[in-house]
Amino acid sequence: MNSFGHLFRISLFGESHGERMGVIIDGCPAGLPLAPADFLHDLQRRQSGFRGATTRVEANIPHLCAGLYNGHTTGAPLAILFDNRDTRPDDYAAFRDTPRPGHADFTATRKWNGFNDLRGGGHLSGRLTVLLVAAGVVAKKILTPVVITAELEEAGGQATVADAIDHAIAAGDSIGGIIRCTARQVPAGWGEPFFHPVESQISRLAFAIPGVNGIEFGDGFAAARRRGSTRNDRFIATDGTTATNNAGGINGGITSGNDLYFRVSVKPAASIARPQQTLNMTTGQMTDLLIPGRHDVCFALRLPVVVEAITAIALADFGQ
Ligand SMILES: Cc1cc2nc3c(=O)[nH]c(=O)nc-3n(C[C@H](O)[C@H](O)[C@H](O)COP(=O)(O)O)c2cc1C
Repeated sequence: MNSFGHLFRISLFGESHGERMGVIIDGCPAGLPLAPADFLHDLQRRQSGFRGATTRVEANIPHLCAGLYNGHTTGAPLAILFDNRDTRPDDYAAFRDTPRPGHADFTATRKWNGFNDLRGGGHLSGRLTVLLVAAGVVAKKILTPVVITAELEEAGGQATVADAIDHAIAAGDSIGGIIRCTARQVPAGWGEPFFHPVESQISRLAFAIPGVNGIEFGDGFAAARRRGSTRNDRFIATDGTTATNNAGGINGGITSGNDLYFRVSVKPAASIARPQQTLNMTTGQMTDLLIPGRHDVCFALRLPVVVEAITAIALADFGQ
C-alpha cells in the first residue's frame, strides 16, 4: 500500500503525469520550525536537466497545505503537495500494447486490469521520489543531531562517472550505479526485533524507490566469505564503540551507536534510446520498440538524496 511507519507515518499519492502529487506526514511533532525554503537544498539535489538525466524539468515547489501555522508544525498531519507541469503524456500511449522490457508497464497493467495510469510510469514513477525527499527533509529535522549523507560510488561499473555517462549516451544505452549511505550519531538501541529490525525498515523503504534492486549493510555479502575471527568488531569503549564496523552499525536489528552504513544497487533505466524488441500483447507478435519521450540515462545520479531521505524516514519512525 502507500503508507509507511507508525510513529512517523508517511502516505503518498499521485502519478507522474497527474495534476498534483502529495505526501501526508502523521506523527510530526508540534513546534518544529518549517518553511518552504527548508526543502530547496535537498529538492535541488534530486533535480533533472543535466547530462545523463531527463530533460523533463519540474519546478518542484513544495506547497505546505496543512499542519503548519506561524512557521511551525502544529502536530496535526502535515500535507505537502507538488504540481506536475512539464508533462508529455502522449509519449506513453503505446506501452499498453507493447510494454517496455524491464519496466513496470506489463505488471502494472496486469495488476490493475488496464485501469492504471501508464503515463510516465503513473503511480510507479520515479517522479514520486520527490515526495520521499520532502518527507526526508522533515525527518532529518526531527532526527537532529543525526547526520545522514549518501553519495554515488560508481556508475555503470566505473568510478569515473562522467566517462561512464558519456559512453552510455554514445551507445544509446542506460547505466545503473551504487550508492553508499551513512548515518552518524544514531543512538544505540533503535530497532524493534523481531519483525521491525532496523535493516528491514530501511530495506522496505529502499525498495520503494523505483529501480533499486539490491541493498547490503556493513560488509554485506562479503561477510559470507570471511571468518568470525577477522570480521568481529572489537569493543574499545563502554559506549559500544568498536575498532572496526563490519556490522554497519547494527547488531540484532538494533543500532549499536557506531556509524550505520549500507549500499544500494540501482539498475539501469529500462527506457533506452536504441531500438529493442518486445511482444505486442494484442497481436502476440514480436515487434520493434523505439521508446519515445525523455528519460534518464543514469537515474542513480539523482538518487543519493532520495536514499538519505528514506534513511531519515525509517529512523524517525524509531526514535524522535
Ligand atoms: C528519480 C528516478 C528517475 C527514473 N527515471 C527513469 C527513466 O527515465 N526511465 C526508466 O525507464 N526508468 C526510470 N526510473 C526507474 C523506473 O521508475 C522503474 O524502473 C520502474 O518504475 C519499475 O520499477 P522497478 O525498476 O523497481 O521494477 C527512474 C527512477 C527514479 C527513482
